[in-house]
Amino acid sequence: MLNGLKTVENQNHHKAIAIYPGSFDPLTNGHIDVAERAARLFDHLILAVVHNPAKNPLFSVAERMEMLQEVASRFPNVEVDSFEGLLVNYATAKQASVLIRGIRAISDYEYELQMALMNRRLQPEIETVFLMAGEAHSFVSSRMVKEVSRLGGDVSGLAPASVALRLREKFKSAQRTE
Ligand code: PNS
Repeated sequence: MLNGLKTVENQNHHKAIAIYPGSFDPLTNGHIDVAERAARLFDHLILAVVHNPAKNPLFSVAERMEMLQEVASRFPNVEVDSFEGLLVNYATAKQASVLIRGIRAISDYEYELQMALMNRRLQPEIETVFLMAGEAHSFVSSRMVKEVSRLGGDVSGLAPASVALRLREKFKSAQRTE
């Protein structure tokens, strides 16, 4: 009887799959903070790197996935993937019901709202959830981490040590070819 009840409960428990999409070019401590919060909230979390050649990313999709893999391996319910095309189509294929986006200052909100409403229009069953990283990360962005590193500044505390190392390597080899 008890067992039967348990089975029914399990069947009714809808596993909430969330996708945290982004460029992650490169991964920052702000992304990690948001990913950790999302991993605690949802049954399964997919960190999804976008194929965005038009944005001229510094790191390849494979490199960005490797950086994310280090984070994912700390959690039993987090995996890393990549996608191209419409995010909502990818989310539907993955049976995900939630899109995670991190917002920092109010300045992020306008673009994020526009994107969330467009995604809702395209696929009304998928909800966007905004998470705020800790205030220590509120000014960290991939763009600034890249710029500081390119100009020889110290990015420790803003991105994992392995990312800082990859950045130094990138900019060292860029200088050699200049
Ligand atoms: O880290 P980013 O660059 O802010 O991430 C932006 C991302 C990848 C979430 C966004 O560009 C995206 O969803 N791209 C896929 C194409 C798409 O679905 N566009 C319509 C949404 S408005």
